[in-house]
Amino acid sequence: MRSQYCGLVDETLMGQEVTLCGWVNKRRDHGGVIFVDLRDREGLVQVVFDPDTPDVFETAEHIRNEWVLQVTGIVRERPEGTANPDLHSGQVEVLGKALTVLNAAETPPFQLDDENLNEEIRLRYRYVDLRRPVMQQRIRTRAKLTGFMRRFLEEQGFLDIETPMLTKATPEGARDYLVPSRTHPGSFFALPQSPQIFKQLLMMSGMDRYYQIVRCFRDEDLRADRQPEFTQLDIETSFQNEDEIMGMTEDLVRGMFSEVIGVELDAEFPRMSYAEAMQRYGSDKPDLRIALELIDIGDLLADVEFKVFSGPANDPAGRVAALRVPGGGSLSRKDIDVYTEYVGRYGAKGLAYVKVNALDEGVAGLQSPILKFLPDEVALEIMQRCGAADGDIVFFGADKAKVVNEALGALRLKIGEDLGLVEDAWKPLWVVDFPMFEWDERDNRWQALHHPFTAPAVDDPKALHDKPGEVLSRAYDMVINGSEVGGGSIRIHKPEMQREVFKLLGISDEEAESKFGFLVRALSYGCPPHGGLAFGLDRLVMLMTGASSIRDVMAFPKTQTAHCPLTDAPSEVSARQLSELNIRIKKPVAE
Ligand code: AMO
Ligand code: AMP
Repeated sequence: MRSQYCGLVDETLMGQEVTLCGWVNKRRDHGGVIFVDLRDREGLVQVVFDPDTPDVFETAEHIRNEWVLQVTGIVRERPEGTANPDLHSGQVEVLGKALTVLNAAETPPFQLDDENLNEEIRLRYRYVDLRRPVMQQRIRTRAKLTGFMRRFLEEQGFLDIETPMLTKATPEGARDYLVPSRTHPGSFFALPQSPQIFKQLLMMSGMDRYYQIVRCFRDEDLRADRQPEFTQLDIETSFQNEDEIMGMTEDLVRGMFSEVIGVELDAEFPRMSYAEAMQRYGSDKPDLRIALELIDIGDLLADVEFKVFSGPANDPAGRVAALRVPGGGSLSRKDIDVYTEYVGRYGAKGLAYVKVNALDEGVAGLQSPILKFLPDEVALEIMQRCGAADGDIVFFGADKAKVVNEALGALRLKIGEDLGLVEDAWKPLWVVDFPMFEWDERDNRWQALHHPFTAPAVDDPKALHDKPGEVLSRAYDMVINGSEVGGGSIRIHKPEMQREVFKLLGISDEEAESKFGFLVRALSYGCPPHGGLAFGLDRLVMLMTGASSIRDVMAFPKTQTAHCPLTDAPSEVSARQLSELNIRIKKPVAE
């Protein structure tokens, strides 16, 4: 139906006849001539209709935005002074000789070039939204990325193997999406939170190297970088240690950035322990583009009268830390109130601060509501430790370490953004040496920091049993510019160790048998040492395209409430379907 893409017409075709198909981006009537910008995947071309071909001209007079046309015409140079350097086709135009309206269109629900579109409406008319060049670009970058991944991994001997979607719960820490079984009344499949267990079973099957670009389902609270169904590049290999896996996946990511967006990342990604990341950045996914760091000052405050500080300073689970913001002395009372409210969302009970006006005047050169609670020498020592200088502000967090880390970690990012302290760079890193477990205060039990199949750094189950809170795991996360783009680990490959971990997690023998018995059994039938990693594809595309929402890099995402405005899913089903499934609906009381 066409000889080329609209967006690829250029001066190499000068004088030739072309046939194009596309959408009307805009039609302009210039008294006697009609200009139509015809758009397709590759871009725009200007088509001109003049009254010399009256029947064509007459049709052209009636066309509207977003109609679908087929045009045959001759490529010619644009008149002097009307070239458009922003377009590939900008030197030329097509003089229309024949025009077929392939389909008329209703007035679009929104202007495609509108900058402030309502997301609900965009999602309801996603097929129109996706016509916008910025969306086309993102979806194409995504396709380029998966293409690169496949080529890279296949060259390295990885096999693309599918794993079930109708399966059993896989513990990645979120709620499951359940699917009722008709043939087993009262029983449910779970959609996979990840293919974790299956990819391990594939290693036990001797497949050696597996990959899959695979959908995962997690019913969790949604955020700008989370969706209920999202895509992983999932990888598992046998007989490779963590350095080999990290090296190979680093090469993959470097290759992707270079090939797809022309960015050359560091030759070797730095590695940082979890402990150091938490201490310096209050986060296990630090954004290294921001130079601000948390500084421990608890030791200086253990004996002060000010309970807000001395309490946490003397609590083994507490932390008192400072965050120095160079040039932050210009923040107003109101700015500080906003930041206090902000850290409050992370559980902080306040946000003490000291403004540094003139350090050479000693405490008299400092300005803060808390100075009256602190001995002068302590205040000055804190300033010294922070490396404070005139014109700075120093913020303080004092609470349980978890609260301080979350609050000051988040404040660090927010202030970095607000004050323009984010370096224009790509800062990848590996976070390693995670603890195996984290104590869950609420449920009074250990929780796995990754998933329960991650190997500890000790070989002996007894060593793990004796000090569960101190043993590190063989897990690694890849972080780029503060976004956790991937994570993985070396796995447990011996049944005794796997049983020990289940036991420590408070999973009873019975529960372990019913949920994971098949896995533990498989470990005892000849399981190779193995490990792997999964990248969040959507997050990678977000980063690489600069999109601010994960929804902007998925063709058909769900809203924040996990609803699809396009298809109106989820929706009610017929009584007959329910009865086949032996399901009776109990409406929530509020309805
Ligand atoms: P994990 O749970 O860390 O590991 O997931 C791997 C990566 O997937 C991305 N991700 C998400 N992206 C969008 N929306 C979500 N709701 C979401 N949840 C996770 C993140 C994350 O780094 N089986 C293990 C991997 C392994 O050990 O090999 C796993 O799923 O970018
Ligand atoms: P207060 O004595 O509660 O009025 O607090 C004095 C100052 O300390 C105020 O600026 C509070 O914002 C701040 N503050 C209170 N609790 C904390 C905390 N847990 N961490 C940091 N600053 C706090």
